[in-house]
Amino acid sequence: MPGSWTLETDADRVAWLTCDAPGTSTNVLSASVIRELAEALERIADEKPAGVVVSSAKRSGFVAGADIKEFVEIRTPQEGYTLVRAAQIVFDRLENLACPSVAAVHGFALGGGLELALAATYRVGADDAKLSLGLPEVMLGIHPGFGGTVRAVRLIGVRPALDLMLKGKPYKGARALEVGLIDRLVPPAELKAAAKRLVLEAPPKRTAPFVEKLLNLKAMRPFVARQATAGLRAKVAKQHYPAPYAIVDLWQRHGAAGAESYEAEAHSIGELMCSPTSRNLVRVFLLQNRLKGLGGKSATDFAHVHVIGAGVMGGDIAAWAALRGMTVTLQDRSDELIEPALLRARTFFEKRLKDPQAVGVAMERLRADTAGDGVPRADVVIEAIVEDVDAKRALYASLEPHLKPGAVLATNTSSIRIEVLAEQLRDPGRLVGIHFFNPVAQMQLVEIVQGSGTAPQPLQSALWFTRQLDKLPLPCKSSPGFVVNRILMPYINEALFALAEGIAPDVIDRAGTRFGMPMGPIELADVVGLDVALHVGSVLANAFQRNVPEVLIERVARKQLGRKTGEGFYPWKDGKVVRSTSQSAEPPADLEDRLILPMLNEAVALLQEGVIEDADLLDAGAIFGTGFAPFRGGPLQYAKARGVDQVTRRLAELEQRYGERFRPSSGFSLLQ
Ligand code: NAI
Repeated sequence: MPGSWTLETDADRVAWLTCDAPGTSTNVLSASVIRELAEALERIADEKPAGVVVSSAKRSGFVAGADIKEFVEIRTPQEGYTLVRAAQIVFDRLENLACPSVAAVHGFALGGGLELALAATYRVGADDAKLSLGLPEVMLGIHPGFGGTVRAVRLIGVRPALDLMLKGKPYKGARALEVGLIDRLVPPAELKAAAKRLVLEAPPKRTAPFVEKLLNLKAMRPFVARQATAGLRAKVAKQHYPAPYAIVDLWQRHGAAGAESYEAEAHSIGELMCSPTSRNLVRVFLLQNRLKGLGGKSATDFAHVHVIGAGVMGGDIAAWAALRGMTVTLQDRSDELIEPALLRARTFFEKRLKDPQAVGVAMERLRADTAGDGVPRADVVIEAIVEDVDAKRALYASLEPHLKPGAVLATNTSSIRIEVLAEQLRDPGRLVGIHFFNPVAQMQLVEIVQGSGTAPQPLQSALWFTRQLDKLPLPCKSSPGFVVNRILMPYINEALFALAEGIAPDVIDRAGTRFGMPMGPIELADVVGLDVALHVGSVLANAFQRNVPEVLIERVARKQLGRKTGEGFYPWKDGKVVRSTSQSAEPPADLEDRLILPMLNEAVALLQEGVIEDADLLDAGAIFGTGFAPFRGGPLQYAKARGVDQVTRRLAELEQRYGERFRPSSGFSLLQ
């Protein structure tokens, strides 16, 4: 097998060390890539060049990070420490070469990739929209481990380095240059020449600004650390997400100085790698990759999308497709009904694209089309009209004769079974559900719903199309509430039953967020809209013989629909919830289980009914669709971690106390 690094020395005695891991389009730092780097650095030390340029031969970018698949294999903190420490030693070798070195970075330099660049004397970036430098390790429940927690602080200073590591959000070129993460930002075509010039000129090495160095003094560190920790506490709980706290702690203890900082970094990451949080976040990352890979590589380019219904959903779906470069025709019953969607799209493009010219181009791709002229040209037709069987069927009857052969006919229905809608089509096999969630721009997950008669090709096309939209497809069978709403509704319903018992809304919400849900159930109901919650809740109640909470029916009758009307279970002001400060009571001891365990119960039932193919897909759907605490790895993973017997016993107890809705599903047997 060819090696991952090439080494060539040019006439000016500059050594070109280029990463090109075989058999992949993206460089990642697996243990073998790092071992080969060590060998290359040994050769460089022998050859004594004037300077070294480290770069990547991949079009995609520099280096994407460490090899995450290897993390899963690590069994003990000691194993993690050993792996990381070995890499640190190799990076030290680069840093301590007798000659200067420069990382010539194009595209992404993330995690271990940026850490590699940080070990070089200088860094040059290729200035384009793809340039992205970051330390996103916290997203995986760990922190940088190849010396990044030390070198980032030394190079750019403690506050910028903490910002980079704690948020995990990469910097674009201009920001990277501004904070000093890179020394030069040059046009892509000049990257190599600029890197070579820099390494031959060898100006003094950059270090952190003076003020940042002051803050790094031992006496000052507690102040900065306290502030950083307070900021973290407002966002994430230490017991749920320990990694960001560990970053602050490492810095406070060692001040990014000396050999012991590297040692401490390696020990700390070894521990974190084996923590349940990191295991689950790595799992989430791999699940996300699985969803991205569903359906394989697309054989079709979806150039034209026709959306019917310019309401809340249709308007936003159309705008999203136009943002993704597709030509979009948007149909409704009159131009006046389309106008608000176009205005909303413009505001959305302005926010996303910033550049007025780009906004203009995107707007040109999105056209009002009351007559439906776009239908015969469309590769995908998405119906997002009122949730009414007859209206939808009548629309399909008028559409079908005009559809291009092979065009996807999709419905965004959230509650009608695909078979029912497809019944009167000449070709019932062509209808597929592409169920977007509200708000479309923020929700990455899209359910791809297969009716019992849906043919394989439309299903495949729907997966490809969803990926072209840069959304995550979740295939499932047509069944009431599909997957996401079916899991989410019991969380909201139980909260409303608790509310009716007299427990205060923010006490209930606190029980949800303490578990790790991104939003408490009462606030969530208000955000979703109480009319929407009632509709979905009623569909599920009818299908599974359950009760709809009276408090929900009452609010909707009073037209208090939540955030959108300024009043729901909470008052709302300027789109923000207004909480009463007096409610500081502790949630009752069983409240968290009341809210969370019904989701687990629903999840196993879905699995047992075959609505979704396997447990991993279900957990992915729950995490990306409902926000189910990612560090817990999804409802089924959580059930397994807690112990299936323990969960079913607890549900049985809750059934005794609160009634049949807690009866444990026989689907739990699938997890044992
Ligand atoms: P909406 O009421 O905001 O918009 C529906 C639009 O369709 C209206 O502008 C209406 O004029 C138009 N329309 C009705 N009949 C039409 C026809 N025959 N031809 C052309 N246009 C027609 O509804 P919303 O909320 O956007 O829902 C649309 C679909 O999306 C429904 O099937 C709903 O179940 C589904 N959905 C809704 C979600 C939500 O949160 N609102 C979430 C996910 C799915």
